[in-house]
Amino acid sequence: MAANYEDRDTLFNFVVKEGNGVKGLIDSGMSCVPQPFVQPLSERIATPNGQTCEAVQPIDLSQIDGPCHTEVAKQIVEAAETLGFFQVVNHGVSVELLELLKMSAHEFFEQPPENKAVYLKEVSPSKLVKYGTSFVPEKEKAIEWKDYVSMLYTNDDEALQHWPLQCREVALDFLKSSMAMVKRIVEVLMEDVGVILEEERMNSLVGTKMVNMNYYPTCPSPELTIGVGRHSDMGMLTVLLQDGIGGLYVKPDNGDWAEIPPLNGALVINVGDTLQILSNGKYKSAEHRVRTTNIGSRVSVPIFTAPTPSEKIGPLPEVVERDGVARYKEVLFQDYMNNFFSQPHDGKKSLDFARAD
Ligand code: OGA
Ligand code: NI
Repeated sequence: MAANYEDRDTLFNFVVKEGNGVKGLIDSGMSCVPQPFVQPLSERIATPNGQTCEAVQPIDLSQIDGPCHTEVAKQIVEAAETLGFFQVVNHGVSVELLELLKMSAHEFFEQPPENKAVYLKEVSPSKLVKYGTSFVPEKEKAIEWKDYVSMLYTNDDEALQHWPLQCREVALDFLKSSMAMVKRIVEVLMEDVGVILEEERMNSLVGTKMVNMNYYPTCPSPELTIGVGRHSDMGMLTVLLQDGIGGLYVKPDNGDWAEIPPLNGALVINVGDTLQILSNGKYKSAEHRVRTTNIGSRVSVPIFTAPTPSEKIGPLPEVVERDGVARYKEVLFQDYMNNFFSQPHDGKKSLDFARAD
């Protein structure tokens, strides 16, 4: 049944509450963008501006523990200090698995809406799995053009039992084959500030792990909408698989938006707020956003790594000593996370929660 798109409540119920998603809206035959999805002018992304970060070569991780270690470490550190985003190849995740992940994301979202709606937050049979549309749609001025399913990791058995059938195995494989890389990159970044993390501390800092699958349906008027609004990620590092459609943009602190171009076989890595806080601002949690398109539905699969909720995060003493000032205060990660998920995306505002007074 087609929704009455003029009425915000009807549309909100159809898309968000009943879990039809943006995908359901498109499938119901909608051919123009309903008002609740229309972004204010300041948030719209004009036609692709052609600026890409193409000049930046992907970092070859096969060399990270070889004779070229110093060079590779330098590339990682430099990227984390400037853009906060880089791409990696030879990352230890098989290219076949990357293809399977994209396929299973399509498979999940292309099911009938009632199969997905069982995972809506209010009714999901598992606390680990949540399906929805946009970020905090109840509070947003304009709803983001994105459906997602998020899968929290506790242990293998629970993942294989509770995560949606279409994606459980591949998502778990992806997570498990990425974690060594995540830890190695964190180690390299920490080494550069003179910090050697004990194994236990490292495990706590990346102890919250979540695999998401994002689905950005093809959009009849991409210039009016946004896939994901300007934000930074809250955790340590995000590992992101994107498909070939493109549309992921990043904004350096004092620069212009530029696209992270799709690169077959590569993974995108970005620094999250926690790493910015721990490093006292040396490493940049990059502001990023996603454009929509009318050429096809885009999928992406991020792995978010973040501290365990009970972990206290603040600038590391070694770094504060070097800098002579602590730019952030110590906060309980649970509090940081609650604040992050309680507000609509708004650039790097999330970091204010930990800013030193
Ligand atoms: C995110 C995100 C980017 C993408 O989910 O936090 O920034 O390309 N996704 O989907
Ligand atoms: Ni993000």
